[in-house]
Amino acid sequence: MVEPFAAVDVIKAKRDRRALTKDEIDWVIDAYTRGVVAEEQMSALAMAILLNGMTEKEIAQWTTAMIDSGERMDFSGLPRPTVDKHSTGGVGDKITLPLVPVVAACGAAVPQLSGRGLGHTGGTLDKLESIPGWRALLSNEEMLSVLRDVGGVICAAGDGLAPADKKLYALRDVTGTVEAIPLIASSIMSKKIAEGAGGLILDVKTGSGAFMSDPAKARELAETMVRLGNRAGVTTRALITAMDVPLGLAVGNALEVTESVEVLSGGGPADVVELTVTLAREMLDLAGITDIDPATTLVDGSAMDVWNRMIQAQGGDPRAALPTARESDVITATTSGVVTRLDALSIGVAAWRLGAGRARKEDPVSAGAGVVLHAKPGDVVVKGAPLMTLYSDEPARFARAHQALDGAVDVGPAGSTIERLPLVIGRVD
Ligand code: URA
Repeated sequence: MVEPFAAVDVIKAKRDRRALTKDEIDWVIDAYTRGVVAEEQMSALAMAILLNGMTEKEIAQWTTAMIDSGERMDFSGLPRPTVDKHSTGGVGDKITLPLVPVVAACGAAVPQLSGRGLGHTGGTLDKLESIPGWRALLSNEEMLSVLRDVGGVICAAGDGLAPADKKLYALRDVTGTVEAIPLIASSIMSKKIAEGAGGLILDVKTGSGAFMSDPAKARELAETMVRLGNRAGVTTRALITAMDVPLGLAVGNALEVTESVEVLSGGGPADVVELTVTLAREMLDLAGITDIDPATTLVDGSAMDVWNRMIQAQGGDPRAALPTARESDVITATTSGVVTRLDALSIGVAAWRLGAGRARKEDPVSAGAGVVLHAKPGDVVVKGAPLMTLYSDEPARFARAHQALDGAVDVGPAGSTIERLPLVIGRVD
C-alpha cells in the first residue's frame, strides 16, 4: 500500500505550529494503529502537540479518528435512556461505586467502562476486584445483558474500543506527554463517545490530588471535553470538583468498597453522599428523568438492591467478607487543636506505597492496603488521638508511607482558618 503522507512531514508540520489537516490526522492515527507510523515518530508528534497545542477543529478530528480506529457500541435497543459518568480521578474517589446503582435505581441505564489505577489515584476495577469472585472482563453481549437485567454495569473496556487510544496512552505514559489538554480530552472522549451513551457527566477534579491541580487548567479541560461530546451528539456536562482533600475517609481498594456499601446503606461520609447525589441529579436530568430524588434510593434500599444484583451478575458475592491487610499502624496527633489542612496527594502516595496502587501496569495491587482517616479539615483533635490508620500486608512499607505523609496534616489552634476548596467548584454546560 502506498501511504499518502510521510510521518516525518506530519511531525514537522506540528513542530512548526501548523494546524494538521483532516486527511493528515486520519492518516496518522490509522497508520499508527497499523504499525506504519513508528512509536518514536508518534512520540515526537505527541511532544509537538504538547508544546504547540491544537485548534478545536484538530482536537475534534483527532478524537473522531481515534473513535474510528475501533468499534462503536450500540445501546439503542435498551428500553431505558443511557447516561454515563467519567471522573478524571482522585484520592478516595469511589463515587462510581454508589453512583451507578443510584442512577440505575431511578430508571436510567448506566454503562460504565472503567479503568485500573496507575500512580497515586485508584482505579474502579481494582476496587471492585477486592470483592471475592467479581469479574471485570465481560464480552459486549454480557455487558448488554447485565445492563438490560440490572440497569447498571461496571466493567473493563474491551480491546475493540478506540484501540488507537490504548496504544497512544501507553506511549504517552512513558514519554512525558500525558499532560496535554488536546491529548487528554481526545483520549477520554474517544472512549466515551465510542461507548455510545446518550448523556455524559464529567467530574473534572482539581487540587493537589488531581491530575489537573490548577483550577484554570481543569476548567479548560472540562470545556474542551464538553464541546467534543456535544459536537459528537452526546449531551455532555461537566462539574469541576475538589480534590485538595481525599473524598470520604477510606483510601484503598477494599476499604473504599466498604465505605461505598455504607453509603448505599444510607450512611457513609457526608462528602461522598453529597457528590454521589449531586452527580446522580445531573445524570438523571440528562436522561430526562425528573420525577425522582436520587437521595431516596440510598434510604429505601433500592440502590443497594441494584448493587447486590450488579455484583452477583459479574460473579461476585456482595455478602462475602472483604480482604483485610495483615498489619496496621496508627498515626496520632502531636498537638491538640483543629485540623486545618489534609493534603490529598500525600495521602494518595502513602496508600500507593502501602500497596493499594501500582507503579507499572502489570503490577498486582493489594486489596486490603490503604489509609483510613479519623479526622478531616474542620475536625477537632486532641494530642495523642488517632489521625489516621495505615494498612499494609508488608510492615516494611510503613516507613515509606510515613515519608509521604510528612507535612500532610496541619493542626492549628481553635478558630484557625480551614484551608479547603468547596466540593463543587464550577460547572460547564
Ligand atoms: N485518562 C484517559 O483515559 N486518558 C488520558 O489521557 C488521561 C486520563
